[in-house]
Amino acid sequence: MPLITMKQVMADSLKKALDPNVDPKERYAVGAFNFSTIPEMVGIVEGAREAKSPVIMMLSLGALKYIGSLELVAATARGIAKQYPEVPFVLHLDHATDLEMIKHAVVCGFTNVMIDASSESFETNIAKSKEIADFAHKHSPYGINGCSVEAELGMLAGHEDNINVSEEDAGKAYTDPALVAEFVEKTGIDALAVAIGTAHGFYKAAPEIKFDLLAEIRKNTDTALVLHGGTGVPEEDFRKCVAMGMSKINVGTGLKKVYTDAVREAIATLPADEYDPRKIVGPGRKAIAAEIAAKSEFFNCAGKADAVLKSIY
Ligand code: G3H
Ligand code: ZN
Repeated sequence: MPLITMKQVMADSLKKALDPNVDPKERYAVGAFNFSTIPEMVGIVEGAREAKSPVIMMLSLGALKYIGSLELVAATARGIAKQYPEVPFVLHLDHATDLEMIKHAVVCGFTNVMIDASSESFETNIAKSKEIADFAHKHSPYGINGCSVEAELGMLAGHEDNINVSEEDAGKAYTDPALVAEFVEKTGIDALAVAIGTAHGFYKAAPEIKFDLLAEIRKNTDTALVLHGGTGVPEEDFRKCVAMGMSKINVGTGLKKVYTDAVREAIATLPADEYDPRKIVGPGRKAIAAEIAAKSEFFNCAGKADAVLKSIY
């Protein structure tokens, strides 16, 4: 199966999010996970296969700098899609700001791109997000609408690669529900990242998610909603967000820790004359797969691969 777009992977989830007659327990969000190496990419898709869930894998700008090439990542993702045809998955460029670079990702074959102009004025955010939506919908190598687009309104606190926002600034910039409909309509984006109290990176104290704000945002737009800053969010908060209509949940920092903890443990337990990198990296890949399977349960997307495929084909 080819890579699919984020719009496709979330279509079934969004339908359930918007239908007031659907039991909130039936709703689900698709998990989106950051990677910076090929073993992590494979671990993510193996975890999704184990959970029979759809999945989104995300390349941050920091990871791109490390890997060095959008083409390399896109080709690898296409190879993985061929090898794991039962997993509906999306290759996403995360928190990108440079319009030319985002367009290059579209042309290389990313199936979702995020334009993050959330720190700019409302008007500039609209203009940049629209420019990317117009381009991505037309210029994917997979054809018209072969790449979808996420944009952000409001700002999350914390640190993540190129993103650095103080708690003070973020506190002033929750997503304004009154602006959501206009933003989505004027930009033509496919998904909206919202700032409702989560932050990037590890939390010092448990996050206070503003569920009232989420309810208002959900009421004001029919577009798919995205929760960033998933690391450290308690399970019950994930479940509540999903029941209230969140369609995509991003996890980055926590997954890095899962991976490096497993690699550290492998190094500590291997004999000193063991030099096979597979014995060191392999346990990291396995740990990632287990974490993706566990998160798929929290997001209620475990077992939803078939529903996603049916909604597309
Ligand atoms: O875009 C990526 C995410 O929002 C990840 O956030 O590192 O806090 O899990 P996190
Ligand atoms: Zn994020």
